[in-house]
Amino acid sequence: MMSQTETNLGAAESAASPAASAVVDASGANPTPVTIVVPHALLENLAARFRPSSLCLMFLNNEGAVAFHDAAAGPFFQRFALPMLQHPDAMTRALRDHLAAQTANAPVTVWNGLPGVTIAAFPYVERRQKLGMLVLAGKSIDFKLGEDVVRVCNRLALDAIWLGQQADELAAYTAEAVQRQARLLLTMVRDQLRLAGLESELTSLSTQLANTYEELSLIYQISGGMRVNRRSVDFFKQTCVEAIGVMGLRGMGVALHCADKLGQEPVLYGPTALDTPTLTRLADELLAWMKARKTSLLVNDIARDKRLAWLAGSARRLLAVPMQRGDEVLGVMFGLDKEVGDFDSVDSKLLNSIANESAIYLENAVLFEDVHGLMMGLLHSLTSAVDAKDAYTCGHSERVAMLAKIIAQEAGLTDAEAERIYMAGLLHDVGKIGVPESVLQKPGRLTAEEFEQMKKHPAIGARILADVKQIQDIIPGVLHHHERYDGKGYPDGLAAQNIPLMGRIICLADCFDAMTSTRTYRKALPLEVTLADIRRCSGTQFDPGLTDAFLRIGMDRLREVVRHQESTARLDLRASAVLGGGAGGNSSGGPTPNAPTAESSAPIAAAIAAGKAA
Ligand SMILES: [Fe+2]
Repeated sequence: MMSQTETNLGAAESAASPAASAVVDASGANPTPVTIVVPHALLENLAARFRPSSLCLMFLNNEGAVAFHDAAAGPFFQRFALPMLQHPDAMTRALRDHLAAQTANAPVTVWNGLPGVTIAAFPYVERRQKLGMLVLAGKSIDFKLGEDVVRVCNRLALDAIWLGQQADELAAYTAEAVQRQARLLLTMVRDQLRLAGLESELTSLSTQLANTYEELSLIYQISGGMRVNRRSVDFFKQTCVEAIGVMGLRGMGVALHCADKLGQEPVLYGPTALDTPTLTRLADELLAWMKARKTSLLVNDIARDKRLAWLAGSARRLLAVPMQRGDEVLGVMFGLDKEVGDFDSVDSKLLNSIANESAIYLENAVLFEDVHGLMMGLLHSLTSAVDAKDAYTCGHSERVAMLAKIIAQEAGLTDAEAERIYMAGLLHDVGKIGVPESVLQKPGRLTAEEFEQMKKHPAIGARILADVKQIQDIIPGVLHHHERYDGKGYPDGLAAQNIPLMGRIICLADCFDAMTSTRTYRKALPLEVTLADIRRCSGTQFDPGLTDAFLRIGMDRLREVVRHQESTARLDLRASAVLGGGAGGNSSGGPTPNAPTAESSAPIAAAIAAGKAA
């Protein structure tokens, strides 16, 4: 019977949640597996530690059923002790009931009432809940083939002599000795569970650390791409693609309130595809929601959501967050479906972080666009004022800018470089503001002195722009747009590659526009004649490489440029007439000391570039 208990040992309490473990049926006699939640590996490990000491480890669940036993403990335990413990007689049932009744705080209990076997047990506790009893069983010190052991052998159909032989191989235990072993087991269980808890915590921290690192890397990458002069389409594409990878999204999209200003239509990236009307409707509804609520929207079952049920055919889950600066909602970012599982608060937090970073970019991009638009407006006004000094060259700066940009793109320059060349083209003749109108608008040939005045306009333009910090890079284009490839141009007589690239490109565009424009002294040259002249001047007046790029633009596209030129010229002439401007100006194409004429088109490009034209 129960002989002894020990206090102050407490229970084995896990510091971590053990993994669900499968079932162990100890004897094989019970066909119904018993599910336990104690790690099987832990029990196996502990059993192996006590097996050499002739002790058998078992685990009884809260119903008193043997859920685990050391299958390698030997025949004495396999054939005798374990079946005896499981036998449904009154004595063992009382023992099992007693063990099952132990509370989570129960101390080590020793039981020596079984014939030939002594056991010690204590509760296994997880999060203050008792999950069962850990049991150590050993051969009793007073084991002998007496009446009670033989009776059990008969009940179990065992040969008592054989059992005695098996028992002789084992160490014998007093109740106190088994109890000491149980105390040792309790300590080991505590240590192992504490270790398992620490390992679990370490794994959890490692996972959190890895996730945090990924999130920080994502935010860092997004921040790194936040150049205000970067196209919003490129910024949001990079942001969405990277977020899809980190968050495991099936789709991620962006919609902006300021779409018109940035030229950013609603977009969606990832495997999930929406047709344009569906994406537009989703964008509109999310923008309206965000504007009104200014909070995240998380829906893990779209079909059951009245607001979004119409989207159920395309997606199942949605997470949307506002891009907000202060109280102003600038747009919305949204994810559609994940590769695995539902959206949760972690996803919401991360997407909000991404949206907050993106909102900073967005706010700056809008401000940049405002300032850029203001500056470009002022530049257009400035060049229009210059062009207006000569009705026949009105719109010339804009056309040269457009064509120079096309040449730059055809020559393989980047979009950003082409944009700067556009600006240089716009301002290339700004120096004419410092040339007397009597020279600019003189209908006849310029005198040598007048021509010298005209030749000053590139340097004047460069001086005008010198104090504008933001456009320093385009000054070479303004200063050198009348240089010739053979070194016979002005103001510095630079040759070949010494002429800044911007200058060489604008020179080509400038001459093309002058030759295809009507002047007081001649009509516009036909496109074919102009192209032949430009080809002929490749290597003397023009950079051969750029000439090739120019000729690759093609007749159709150049005809469009010429048509645009004719329409703007007509408008300008009408405006000039209304304002009382003369139609006889020739600042760009009029006779010069070596003036070309329409009749002698062959040297016209050279004359235009070297003379006063444009
Ligand atoms: Fe010029």
